[in-house]
Amino acid sequence: MMEQTAVVSKSELSQSEVSQLRCIGCGAIASTLAQNARCAHCGDLLEVVYPGWKSGESRFAAAMLKSVWKQRRTSLLPEDQSGVWRFRDLLPDLRDGNRAITLREGNTPVYELPSCARGAGVESLFAKHQGMNPTGSFKDTGMTTAASFARQEGFHWVACASTGNTSASMAAYAARGGMRSLVLIPDGKITWSKLSQSLDYGAVTCQLKTDFDGCMRVLNEVVQRMPVYLLNSVNPYRLEGQKTAVIELLEQFNWEVPDHIIVPGGNLANSSAIGKAVLELKELGLISRLPKISIIQAQGANPLVRAIRENGGKELVPVKADTMASAIRIGNPASWKKAVRVLQATDGTVEQATDVEIAQAKAEIGADGIGCEPASAVTLAGLKKLVKSGFVKRSEKVVLILTGHLLKDPDFTLKFHRGDLFTGTPEEKQASILAFQQRAPVVLDASAESVVKLLELEERSERSN
Ligand code: F0G
Repeated sequence: MMEQTAVVSKSELSQSEVSQLRCIGCGAIASTLAQNARCAHCGDLLEVVYPGWKSGESRFAAAMLKSVWKQRRTSLLPEDQSGVWRFRDLLPDLRDGNRAITLREGNTPVYELPSCARGAGVESLFAKHQGMNPTGSFKDTGMTTAASFARQEGFHWVACASTGNTSASMAAYAARGGMRSLVLIPDGKITWSKLSQSLDYGAVTCQLKTDFDGCMRVLNEVVQRMPVYLLNSVNPYRLEGQKTAVIELLEQFNWEVPDHIIVPGGNLANSSAIGKAVLELKELGLISRLPKISIIQAQGANPLVRAIRENGGKELVPVKADTMASAIRIGNPASWKKAVRVLQATDGTVEQATDVEIAQAKAEIGADGIGCEPASAVTLAGLKKLVKSGFVKRSEKVVLILTGHLLKDPDFTLKFHRGDLFTGTPEEKQASILAFQQRAPVVLDASAESVVKLLELEERSERSN
């Protein structure tokens, strides 16, 4: 098939010529990934770079890549059916015929959001729904790559600290790849739906009496003492897989570049990966201009927003994180330097949203028939502010990256519709603006009469609106 003929053959270059691990701080090249996934010289994060692309520029003829990726969609090979490995020409290679651990991740839809667009004041608004991945979040796109590298290195144990989605995803890929997994989560601070996923996928799950940042601290010590492979997003192979969401998005847009891509920010790896993807696509000539990448954080977990506004992104001061969007309740994000680079390289910006604004935006996305988890809805809440400030123009094409599925946090949604999400919180008064979006379930007598009465009432109120 195509694979033998037109596909870029990286086999003529040695692995280290094609891709390398380079420190983002001191530039040192690492031959292998250390236990803590950081640079052995200065302790900063590593990234995958591809010097081989330069020496083999002609191999990366843009049109050829686009056509190869399209052709692979008709293939029966598991790697081709994966929406991540289908783009493997822009990923580091697995050695010696090692196979990828894949759940056919990626392949996620792009939806138009017509009523959200009207509400936000833009003409053209889309959602790339990464919540439609196998375990219900974008984490799968990075986990397929990083877990495959863990297995290639011969690890029996993989581990992560998590606000719930990374752990669900890691546990699934470890199980598929025949590895054991260790999960550290903040006790009582992740949703039960995410927790139940890692249990079912067989992870050893530890609920620590601390927050996410505390779990991360403990894990960093554990990986130094035990032969476990760290699968948090400090692992640069995670970001490589996560890049493919944007490659796939651009393919879905027939390589027409949107003006803005808006991403939620927690540990700040996903925004870094998305930025890395557009910069590489531009370098390789697959796109001719860059979208602006903007990052939205919850107001109660906003260290990047503060860093940008207070010191232009030179220094990050950790915060004590507090938001109902539990997936992004992170006060000391590991990938903040990478995220700052992306903001600068793409002329993007930062914004923040309160929990009430997040809840409102989530219900609006739901009303477009899409739905997402609270951490994803920060994107729409942030967009509204970016339109108001003039950063996003009415006529510009905007894509929101929705990172998690609606069913990841059913408690939030139920409480929202029952009207008690903010009861007893400082935002209780402000939350009264949400009343008209709430659709609490109605308890009725088991008779057609009472159901018909309710329908008539609904019809009447719809006509009067
Ligand atoms: N959206 C969702 C649904 C998430 O689960 C996360 C992160 C983010 C956004 C933020 O992405 O960290 O790359 O900036 N969740 C992590 C976890 C931290 O453990 O599941 P980020």
